[in-house]
Amino acid sequence: MIYLDNAATSFPKPPEVIRAVKGVMEKIGGNPGRAGHAGALAGGRILEACREAAAAYAGVSAPERVIFCLNCTDALNMAIRGTLHAGDEVLVSHAEHNAVMRPLMGYHDAGKINVRILPPDERGLLSPATVRAAVTPQTALMVLCHASNVTGIIQPAREITRTCHEFGIPLLLDAAQTAGTEDLAAVGADMIAMPGHKGLMGPMGTGLLCLGEGMLPRPLREGGTGSASDSLRQPSLLPDRLESGTHNLPGIAGLLQGLKFTGWHRAAMTEYEQALTLRLLRGLRRIPGVDDYSGPSDLPRTAVVSFNVRGLDSGETADELNRRGIAVRGGLHCAPSIHAWLGTSGAVRASLGPYNTEQDVDALLNAVEDISKSRRT
Ligand SMILES: Cc1ncc(COP(=O)(O)O)c(C=O)c1O
Repeated sequence: MIYLDNAATSFPKPPEVIRAVKGVMEKIGGNPGRAGHAGALAGGRILEACREAAAAYAGVSAPERVIFCLNCTDALNMAIRGTLHAGDEVLVSHAEHNAVMRPLMGYHDAGKINVRILPPDERGLLSPATVRAAVTPQTALMVLCHASNVTGIIQPAREITRTCHEFGIPLLLDAAQTAGTEDLAAVGADMIAMPGHKGLMGPMGTGLLCLGEGMLPRPLREGGTGSASDSLRQPSLLPDRLESGTHNLPGIAGLLQGLKFTGWHRAAMTEYEQALTLRLLRGLRRIPGVDDYSGPSDLPRTAVVSFNVRGLDSGETADELNRRGIAVRGGLHCAPSIHAWLGTSGAVRASLGPYNTEQDVDALLNAVEDISKSRRT
């Protein structure tokens, strides 16, 4: 199987990630923060090391501002539901995933908040001027999908964050498709939601919410934290305020290794994935009867390319590729707004990772060419 579905979750994982997960399962007996014995303390040290690595990567001032989550959806929900108030207005890009839109639209439909979807320019980029023009006195939050999980286009997040800050509006960055490959600290976002299991190369069931200065979401879950146990009230201090119950210690141990791996290899990995992505894009653009949705080739992008074979439903093409041993994803990718903007009812998405090769890309191109040819004859 040639795995080209890294935007859903990266595969394979680095050997050190797998070793770390296994190491915790085999060697650590204890629940961090719940006891003072050696196993619990060893687990606690893993949590702390992972917080420190994530804080350094995200550019947040203190490790306790890194919150362990289940995935990126969980981190986004925590940030959105934990900070909004009735009467607020929220600005979002056209590229948002349902992990952002569903919590927002639930509140919007209940009449609690107003959500405004901002249009991009003709190339697919949201301009700071559009954001500036959309701000009202009620605007309380901007949520920005750093890179679309459909087109791969990276938005000018740093400029948009600066624009929001001119008005005192915090920006929540959905870094689902950029965590691991892009410099997130450079964006200056107020909150960053990231999955641990995609570009950061950690295990599924891991995610992070990194909180900038002044950001203190209300907890969505309350319960035991192993701290201030004499109180019947949820602790107000981070990270315990937002982390109730037992952690996914094996997953977090793996994520720590993923953070180290991507920290060491970031520049090389990003450059390598970019080269593979351009090879794929150029190749697809040479095949008659294939449309891609990547926009101009000079745009900043992640290793995601979506396309359709004309006359075939994206699900049919994805199924045919899967039958030929190439794992890709068809459909709407939980991002209906950007498909509406593209005018598509679905697409085939190929997403590359650091373990893919030129041979993998060429195998996909040959298969697509073959499928497109048989469609035309
Ligand atoms: C842009 C974007 N946001 C959020 C998510 C949700 O991430 P997770 O699967 O970790 O919950 C995804 C997942 O693909 C995504 O692509």
